[in-house]
Amino acid sequence: MNAPQKNSTPITVEVALGDRTYEILIGRDVLGSLGTRIARLRPGARTAIVTDRTVAKTWLKRTEEVLDQAGIAHASVIVGEGENSKTYAGLQQVCEALIAARIERNDLVIALGGGVIGDLAGFSASLLRRGVDFVQVPTSLLAQVDSSVGGKTGINSPQGKNLIGTFHQPVLVLADTAVLDTLSPRQFRAGYAEVAKYGALGDEAFFTWLEANHAELFSGGAAREHAVATSCRAKAAIVARDERETGERALLNLGHTFGHALEAATGFSERLFHGEGVAIGMVLAAEFSAERGMMPASDAQRLAKHLADVGLPTRLQDIAGFAQEGLADADALMALMAQDKKVKRGELTFILMEGIGRAVIANKVEPAPVRDFLQRKLAQT
Ligand SMILES: NC(=O)c1ccc[n+]([C@@H]2O[C@H](COP(=O)([O-])OP(=O)(O)OC[C@H]3O[C@@H](n4cnc5c(N)ncnc54)[C@H](O)[C@@H]3O)[C@@H](O)[C@H]2O)c1
Ligand SMILES: [Zn+2]
Repeated sequence: MNAPQKNSTPITVEVALGDRTYEILIGRDVLGSLGTRIARLRPGARTAIVTDRTVAKTWLKRTEEVLDQAGIAHASVIVGEGENSKTYAGLQQVCEALIAARIERNDLVIALGGGVIGDLAGFSASLLRRGVDFVQVPTSLLAQVDSSVGGKTGINSPQGKNLIGTFHQPVLVLADTAVLDTLSPRQFRAGYAEVAKYGALGDEAFFTWLEANHAELFSGGAAREHAVATSCRAKAAIVARDERETGERALLNLGHTFGHALEAATGFSERLFHGEGVAIGMVLAAEFSAERGMMPASDAQRLAKHLADVGLPTRLQDIAGFAQEGLADADALMALMAQDKKVKRGELTFILMEGIGRAVIANKVEPAPVRDFLQRKLAQT
């Protein structure tokens, strides 16, 4: 991993949302063009870079340099890494720092970091002075293919994840694929689960391509840009058709109903990263679909094999500490799923599959067969 690669012409993906349309630029060293792009987009604007401690160590200096080169004033706001910053306290810290940096209505907030920073900085920008614009520079694979696309911003409540938030679209997204070279292999793999999700939910040809090209994607070759661009295009197309998640956007939750319950059951800890929960959740959704006769069992096996090939967990038994500490029982997992915000009036909404590339929204899934299915999965060795 991390062999130096040559830079390439960026790929542009447009997110078509009327007068809020914006571009995602994907490529090695697109970060180098941040200053000139901002100067063109918003002449004279001041900026504030919101980032976390880890990303600040590796990428803040470079970001400040490219802004300096374009003569753009910048302040920086550094928060602690991880979900602990996606809180009321984190929001207060960022908003107060943005006010102190004299960020006004025509200025720009720059979110430099993973999904935590994108959500926190975007939310802060949406509230500051009743809304200032922001630019996303997503630095994790998950943020590049998922959280930086679609405009959902927010923080966690002590009562649940992402319960406080707004829709606030960025004005520009720069997804620099070279920045991913400093991400830990485990974080990279977790983000990859969301990449594979786009193939699994709506694009069998992309899934087949991933089966053949995943090694180059991990090592940082041109396959990485293609995969990020294809993922962004898939999400952008769905978001453009259903920005507020009244219908089709729910397909993006493939693997997430099971996945969130597993994350909650492991206390949102290091035991299971979000993408790892999604990987196991997708396999469970596929196996449950196969059991119901909706899709061939061979498709569920194909999905599990690919995720396992890249080193992702695919079974409940793969969760760290499963043998020693166990996991919640089936009833507890059902209760956690019932708390999920995708549940409407007690009925479970699941994203199920009819095949690789063909996910469907199943609105009225009865709890009993799901509980029975989970009980059998928990009992496996
Ligand atoms: N808004 C949305 O639509 C949306 C969608 C999916 C997920 N999310 C949110 O995104 C968050 C998860 O995002 P994440 O996985 O990026 O988490 P994260 O932002 O916590 O980043 C993961 C870790 O990687 C580190 N990191 C990030 N980029 C790095 C780099 N280039 N080099 C070295 N280290 C780096 C971070 O410091 C952090 O420790 C969750 O809070 C989730 O709710 C939001
Ligand atoms: Zn996700």
